[in-house]
Amino acid sequence: MSHQVALAFEDGITRFIKVGANETVADASYKARINIPLDCRDGACGTCKAFCESGKYDGGDYIEEALTDDEAEAGYCLPCQMVPESDLVLQIPTTSDVAKTSAASFESTLSEIRRISETTYAFSLEVDKREDLSFLPGQYVNIEVPGSGGQTRSYSFSSGPEVDIVSFLIRITDGGLMSTYMRDTAQVGDRITFTGPMGSFFLREPKRQSLLLAGGTGLAPLLAILEKLAGMDNPHPVHLIYGVNTDIDLVELDVLQDYTQRIAGFSFDTVVGDPDSASQKKGYVTNHFEPQHLAEGDVDIYLCGPPPMVEGVRRHLEAEGLKPQNFYYEKFALAVVPDAEPAAPAAEAPAAQAAADQGYEIGEEHASFEAQFDARMALELAVVELTMGKLAEGQLGEFKVLAELAGKTLDGEKFINAEEFTVTNDAFHEFLFKAVGNEHLLQAYRRLDVPALMAAVLRQEHWIDGAVDADHLGIVAAFEKQDIAAARAAITAHNQHAKATMAAASKAAAQ
Ligand SMILES: Cc1cc2nc3c(=O)[nH]c(=O)nc-3n(C[C@H](O)[C@H](O)[C@H](O)COP(=O)(O)OP(=O)(O)OC[C@H]3O[C@@H](n4cnc5c(N)ncnc54)[C@H](O)[C@@H]3O)c2cc1C
Ligand code: FES
Repeated sequence: MSHQVALAFEDGITRFIKVGANETVADASYKARINIPLDCRDGACGTCKAFCESGKYDGGDYIEEALTDDEAEAGYCLPCQMVPESDLVLQIPTTSDVAKTSAASFESTLSEIRRISETTYAFSLEVDKREDLSFLPGQYVNIEVPGSGGQTRSYSFSSGPEVDIVSFLIRITDGGLMSTYMRDTAQVGDRITFTGPMGSFFLREPKRQSLLLAGGTGLAPLLAILEKLAGMDNPHPVHLIYGVNTDIDLVELDVLQDYTQRIAGFSFDTVVGDPDSASQKKGYVTNHFEPQHLAEGDVDIYLCGPPPMVEGVRRHLEAEGLKPQNFYYEKFALAVVPDAEPAAPAAEAPAAQAAADQGYEIGEEHASFEAQFDARMALELAVVELTMGKLAEGQLGEFKVLAELAGKTLDGEKFINAEEFTVTNDAFHEFLFKAVGNEHLLQAYRRLDVPALMAAVLRQEHWIDGAVDADHLGIVAAFEKQDIAAARAAITAHNQHAKATMAAASKAAAQ
């Protein structure tokens, strides 16, 4: 038996998937070409962590590091492991944009290699079909090491998504496969294949101050994030603490200095572990946290570096009892045994699986009605701003009658007459667009396919979310009270209930 799972993304978009018996949410999601964050696919890394709003599921096998008992108790879950036991609603901590950014294979030419310190190189790739490569600042790719018979290593973009020639930083690890290639054999003009973009470490829309923490070449994705911030209007302060082992590991300080000019409110510190360092700040990055960087937790932290550093920072924050509003991190794990590489094979497999599953299009189909309903909500929220407090008494009465008429076609969670509901519901929703007296808004509403979509799938015997009727009356009541916040809340909730109804009806129609 399959279950319906709603994936609610951070940007308000919800997409529905059908998950088969004994199938994990992540597998079903990739089949539907919805690429939710994923790395190990094994319950080990925690990258896929989501929050379950409703429903029952078997959480599967995972380790404490990926999901603690407290988190599981609070409702957090791992889509790579979980198997639904009922319909579910999951909050996915990424935007629907990234979910669409599926990984693909790219060919490129090595266009520059620069040794920027004794231990670190910067290199750039000129990508064939660059226009096909879109990525979010902070993401990485899996690069096939030339001459290695197809072995890959992960590297984060250090350039921003809008820059033509993509760049990376690599710290040379003695005896390492990619390190040896880059130091000893790489030549400008070499052809390089990579797969990407990967990962869910990327800049979210800044809503508060940020603290960026880099360990060694963990600086690379943060440089990409800074490049993005340089092109944005962000009123919140951004502070970077960049930690390395020795003085010779410090790189790109001139670039960081340049960002202090290009990004308002940006500052940075460097910290060197070596006690003999010439640097003013020594030790771990955590030794140099100032209260203003952490703002008592009202901060978004982005942390990228080797696993011990990531763990060190996590432990430090926990010990201080500090819970940042958002804490995004990425570990630069070494891939000593290629088969055990944490990122590459796990992230590639679902994409390949999705490609092999050409016939399965449920994600796409649902996406179109989703988009229609979300567009209706966005228009209604705009119209509320324009009409609140301006409706005459007679108009309020008419609005209420339309709500009640739609309600009369329903009996709790059943339609009495689905066809009539579609018509009266449309009249109810159109009312405000007529009342506002703006032809463009009315036309925009009429261009939506919502009534046609409803007419196509809703049938008497189908379930309707029991809250729909109350939502309509709630919207009218909010207008009567001239309570704009209540109207917005009712419209937003109504959108969810309408979409749930459509999803259930589409599912029933497909069976
Ligand atoms: C998501 C992600 C993003 C990353 N981004 C970056 C980045 O932007 N920049 C960056 O520099 N790094 C990054 N890394 C790390 C990077 O992917 C490589 O792991 C790193 O560059 C080392 O690769 P290598 O091929 O040079 O070394 P490897 O060949 O992987 O070897 C690593 C070490 O293990 C030793 N070793 C190799 N084989 C064996 C063996 N069989 N037994 C024992 N020891 C062995 C080697 O001598 C060497 O010291 C990232 C990692 C991840 C997971
Ligand atoms: S724990 Fe789910 S992808 Fe790693």
